[in-house]
Amino acid sequence: MNVTTSSNLDITKYNGIIIPCFEGQQPSLETLPQQTATYLKANKFEGKYESNALFSIPLEETLVQYLFVGLGKKEELTVEKAMCAIGSAVKTLSKKELASVAVSFTEIEESILTEHFVLSVVKACSLACYAFDKFMEKEKEKQKIETLTYILSQTHIQAVKKGVSIAEDITLARLLVDEPANLMKPKNVVEVATRVCQKAGIEMKVFEKEEIEKMNMNAFLSVAKGSDEEPRLIVMKYNGNPESDEIVALVGKGLTYDSGGYSIKPTNSMITMKSDMGGSAAVIGAMSAIAKEAPKINVVGIIATCENMISGRAYLPGDVLTSMSGKTIEIVNTDAEGRLTLADAITYAIQKEHATKIVDICTLTGAVVVALGEDYAGVITREDSLWEDIQASAKRATESIWRMPIDKNFEKKNKSTIADIKNSGGRWGGCSSAGAFVGAFTEGKPWIHIDIAGSAYLESEKPYFTAGATGSGVHLLTELVKHWAK
Ligand code: BES
Ligand code: MN
Ligand code: ZN
Repeated sequence: MNVTTSSNLDITKYNGIIIPCFEGQQPSLETLPQQTATYLKANKFEGKYESNALFSIPLEETLVQYLFVGLGKKEELTVEKAMCAIGSAVKTLSKKELASVAVSFTEIEESILTEHFVLSVVKACSLACYAFDKFMEKEKEKQKIETLTYILSQTHIQAVKKGVSIAEDITLARLLVDEPANLMKPKNVVEVATRVCQKAGIEMKVFEKEEIEKMNMNAFLSVAKGSDEEPRLIVMKYNGNPESDEIVALVGKGLTYDSGGYSIKPTNSMITMKSDMGGSAAVIGAMSAIAKEAPKINVVGIIATCENMISGRAYLPGDVLTSMSGKTIEIVNTDAEGRLTLADAITYAIQKEHATKIVDICTLTGAVVVALGEDYAGVITREDSLWEDIQASAKRATESIWRMPIDKNFEKKNKSTIADIKNSGGRWGGCSSAGAFVGAFTEGKPWIHIDIAGSAYLESEKPYFTAGATGSGVHLLTELVKHWAK
């Protein structure tokens, strides 16, 4: 899809025109066809939030679709509300097989059009055009929006470009997550990461099974053991500040499929488990976005990718293994596999990459989905200042996060009677005990844990998202890294 801007609305150029309007403020109709006022009246359109009016007006041989969108009262508008209203309008028109669509900002005054506002709305509009329809013969043939034009003053061109750019990296993550597990194996994650790193000029290393064995990453290897697909450790390095010893590690959970292993999942819980590499998709998308923005900071992206399967070689409940850190782990549930892969990936980050700050991102627990639903990612950190950092970043990224607790009691839940730690603290407080397990491998380094099990993958659509992958975390990680670069 092409994105352009224009400072005035030439109605002869588009098949679809979206006009967001405030409640109680007459849309200025000078450049629009005469019939518009009549149609608006017939549709009882008053600009109320979540209301709209869709009608077509003939122009020469064709029909132009007009979609007026209510923004609600001006003083109650937020960036998120604008994203939902305008993004869902784009989603509506994207299904109408129109080649060229305009989104007009002409009814919104300049004082509201901050860089953050324009960037966020443009991002939402780009995300709204996403369709994972490559396996639907009829759908994929349909006309997609070829050109999306924003009607606004040319002073906003940079904001538009930035919105389009971050949406591209979010889309990259969504495509990775939506790809079914029969087509997205660890080796395929490597392929995509390689392509992204080459394009972005990021240094990259991939470790195969033998090298992973040499590093004694037995927690990671145990999870991978049951699968015919070999695990891979992917390391992506963005060196934006060579003079500094500070290195931020972004560690993403990369289970290309999670059957649960011998602690097997029920059928229905298994259906969406291709999405269990949402954390690694977020890291790949963020590394791409970070390289484009070029902040003065060093970042290493780390992904331990594998499949959690059942076979004669699979790990078993009751097993005890020695992780890369030397800590022994009792396996009480083979479905608590993500934390095992993260434990070794974090030890790798500290021992081999000398990471000084650690951020892990993962579809880690069903518990976080029960607690927070699909809107919020659960965040755990021991330091208030880090919570403030990620809160500020979440606001810039328009991603919702909620802080979950961590304390001695959650650490106690993971106590084993035969090993240093066990891999599940049980059902209650599952997001926090899982976080405490991961935190046991961070060696006291500044650490933020982001559980995106709910936000990475939607059961049903949202205003500017279809059901399926969201790319949760891509923008958040990017803003966090930029925040730390300041
Ligand atoms: N990948 C799942 C978590 C998950 C659940 C992601 C739902 C997305 C949607 C994770 O590996 C898992 O199975 N967690 C278990 C942990 C339990 C066995 C301690 C869970 O949450 O049930
Ligand atoms: Mn699992
Ligand atoms: Zn999992």
